[in-house]
Amino acid sequence: MSIYFGACYYPEHYESEHRVEMIEKDIELMKQLQFNVVRIGEFAWCELEPEEEKYDFSVLDQAIEALGKQGIYTVLCTPTAAPPVWLSQKHPDIRYVSGMKLVYPYGGRRFTCYNSPVYRKYSEKIVTLIAKRYGSNPYVIGFQVDNEFAQERNGRCQCGYCQDLFKQWLKGKYRDISNLNNSWGTIFWGQKYNDFQQVLPPVTLDKKKPDHNIMYQGVDSPSLRLDFERFCSASMVSYYNLQYEILTKYSDKPVTTNSTGTGTNEINYYDMFKNSDVTGMDHYPATRTDEKINSAFQYAHARGIKNNSFWMLETLCGGGYGNWAFQGMRHEYPGSFKNNMMYAYASGAELITMFKFHGFKWGFEQLGSSLMDLDRVPRRRFYELSEAGKELANIKEILERTKVSSRVAMIFDYDSLWATKIKPIHNNFSYLEYLQSIFKSTLACGTGIDIISRDGDFSTYDLLILPAMTIMDQDTANKIKQYTENGGYVLGTYLTAVRDVYGNGTELRQPIHLDDLFGIGISEVEPVFDDIPSFVSNGSTTDQCCIWLEQLELYGAQALLRFKGSYRDGLPTATVNNYGKGKAYYLGCGLSMAGTIDFIQNIVKSIGIMPYPIQHSKRVSVVERTNAKERYYFVFNNAEHQETIRLMYEGQEILRDVAVSDKLELKAKEYCVIKYIL
Ligand code: GAL
Repeated sequence: MSIYFGACYYPEHYESEHRVEMIEKDIELMKQLQFNVVRIGEFAWCELEPEEEKYDFSVLDQAIEALGKQGIYTVLCTPTAAPPVWLSQKHPDIRYVSGMKLVYPYGGRRFTCYNSPVYRKYSEKIVTLIAKRYGSNPYVIGFQVDNEFAQERNGRCQCGYCQDLFKQWLKGKYRDISNLNNSWGTIFWGQKYNDFQQVLPPVTLDKKKPDHNIMYQGVDSPSLRLDFERFCSASMVSYYNLQYEILTKYSDKPVTTNSTGTGTNEINYYDMFKNSDVTGMDHYPATRTDEKINSAFQYAHARGIKNNSFWMLETLCGGGYGNWAFQGMRHEYPGSFKNNMMYAYASGAELITMFKFHGFKWGFEQLGSSLMDLDRVPRRRFYELSEAGKELANIKEILERTKVSSRVAMIFDYDSLWATKIKPIHNNFSYLEYLQSIFKSTLACGTGIDIISRDGDFSTYDLLILPAMTIMDQDTANKIKQYTENGGYVLGTYLTAVRDVYGNGTELRQPIHLDDLFGIGISEVEPVFDDIPSFVSNGSTTDQCCIWLEQLELYGAQALLRFKGSYRDGLPTATVNNYGKGKAYYLGCGLSMAGTIDFIQNIVKSIGIMPYPIQHSKRVSVVERTNAKERYYFVFNNAEHQETIRLMYEGQEILRDVAVSDKLELKAKEYCVIKYIL
């Protein structure tokens, strides 16, 4: 593993007569920043092919060569997120059609349909030329396919091709229309189909945002909507794979794309990165307000996709006039750039390219945040990041020889995300927010937590959490049971194992396929609103429920929490069950943050997971990295003032090279690295 640090770079913005000279000047600055990588080319198609089949690769040739000679390597992007105007004008039907039949205009980016055969043909052509020309260029270290799939609301196209393909996709999946009718339950409201041709994709009913591509809610079939989500995700995966195949045919360099974590649209990234060599992601932390929980969550998600380190192909590098916030953006507190950057490396980033090296004069993103202002005068951001570049050189080897280690994992499941959006249970329930609250509570117990898929390897973890994993199939249930049988601990929460793979109910006792594992059945369920509070007790402390509650029947399990007061008084809502060599916990209601932490902490303690020797808190984030011999804690002061860090035992602080014992002062936004020998 090598550590890369750099920025996204746009040499195509320079006029060709001055380009080489401008690139040379930029390189001087980049060297002061200790850059060893740039990411280029993702919107440069019109420069590479100004007219059909009239090519000019000089901008890439010049930049890659000049940078490479100075030790700055290139991640080369394919330019397909922004096709040239001549192409859109010649083939208007490559354009995206929204759920309300709005045809996206050209003149910006991301206005095309991933399934359009014509767009695919042109994409293949330009990507093949790039792959052949740069596939074995020694200065190119990898490729990024396209740019942020599904951005600008183009994830769920309804053009004629997509409508036809959706029907074909359903036919491929169900074979026989009666099979689809039975699986979806189209007898409900008498909507049985006689033929796949009759199936219409769902439309949005959101009047406030009629062209929004998040088309979850409607009164038609939830199974139709769930399959449409899967189909749209599969369309983007297939477009990604089209380019992936070409690039890997002509190159042995890593190929990836810049996913948006859980930020933009819900593409099933486990599927998208299945073939890829490395997971790519973009993440823009909210540095003045974020206590790093969102960043921690996004990095754990990126790491979990391939159970490996990842490339962060875009991240925030300033504030100012703003763009996507549709208003100006705050600048970071001094030290934040370095702090965020190191946090990302500690959390598994192997490459970071900041967005972006220099500001844009024009377009939607004009005067937006960048490392260098338009006048190229080095200022605070430049100096802070050049310091970061130097510090990175000092800790690079530690990053290279250690990995983030977690004994707890949580399943993030796209089917469950979609299904809980399609059939919401409470206005304040969000699958993602719930996962984040469980994630945050686990971190608060002083232990690391990974995010994995239902297909992931559970065996390396001591505790597996299934938060609101509403879609359950027999195979996954068997795998979870096997894991517990072998000694694993599992925690299922409310809404887990409610629906089958079509998003529907079943005749099985809930939690379906897992009732024997948890030793329970679910009897009554209901949302919780403030006007009628519900309380639970563990015998000594009482907590108030939030969002949702489930009343449990005991079939072998032992109650841990019972309702207190009202007509449910004494009935169980949280349990534990012995299963094989392991234990299965079930938490049937939403608890306060303190109550959730307490519940998880008891499980973590009973497993014997030792908390970090440095206390994690709202203001202090801790990441543990280990190998067979060493253990490192990367400790970050998130606050804008000095913090005292408490240590449970003595270690060695690497950056200052001093022994530290019971406490350590970290200035505002400062970080440190503490070493322990195992
Ligand atoms: C990303 C996108 C970049 C740029 C950036 C602005 O989502 O990939 O091209 O638009 O946001 O913050």
